[in-house]
Amino acid sequence: MAERTPMIAGNWKMNLGRKEAQELIYAIKDGIKGLKDIQVLVAPPFTHLDTVLKAIGGADIYLAAQNMYWEMSGAYTGEVSGRMLQEAGCTHVILGHSERRNLFQETSDMVNQKVKAASFLGLIPIICVGETLEQRDNGQAFEVVQRQLEKSMDNFLADQRMPPSTILAYEPVWAIGTGRTASPDQAEEVHRFIREWIDSSFDTHTAEQIRILYGGSVKPDNISALMSKPDIDGALVGGASLKSEVFLKIIRFQEG
Ligand code: PGA
Repeated sequence: MAERTPMIAGNWKMNLGRKEAQELIYAIKDGIKGLKDIQVLVAPPFTHLDTVLKAIGGADIYLAAQNMYWEMSGAYTGEVSGRMLQEAGCTHVILGHSERRNLFQETSDMVNQKVKAASFLGLIPIICVGETLEQRDNGQAFEVVQRQLEKSMDNFLADQRMPPSTILAYEPVWAIGTGRTASPDQAEEVHRFIREWIDSSFDTHTAEQIRILYGGSVKPDNISALMSKPDIDGALVGGASLKSEVFLKIIRFQEG
């Protein structure tokens, strides 16, 4: 089986002032010194990208945006293009987060336009999927996730190729910001399903290479159990990524 480097990603959402953002990065930088075999990523709000990039300096912390628009430029008031994100130093972009889907009516077709534009530019997409509580209770979790995968990655399906750098995130909506984490077994079940979907839609080699992060109330006390599952390759952390000591405990989960 392919070795997949674990990734711990912090999604700051619409939080932190500029100064707090800077201090958080300094603390993370300090706390990850000497750490190997794990990738750390932060996704600050657009307005902090520049400050955060400077604070990162030469440290091993990847920079992501939380969203983007699919056009390269033009009359799209309020939007930010992938090219602008690259200029701001981003290597990754989170796409299709459930808050985008649910609060801002983003459909999987729109997510796919963004995935297409990001891939064209060489920005690595972190594509989020996940069912609501109602869908889970109705026994539709797998069906919903599969539909989101198929539509959000329609361009990859058409090309019959999924770039191996692509990152997926399974984030059950009922576990986001609720303190209610999916159990490691519940999460693993869906992660495995996603990996099997990649295998049957693309090929085994791709399925073995793609990292699938889990997101939804990840905390220092549940990260190790989640990471012990074979198909969970990292975490997309919201609330617990805003405090350096908490986020660092998640990053250093291997130390127990
Ligand atoms: P949470 O958010 O860790 O606060 O539940 C996760 C996410 O939305 O990415």
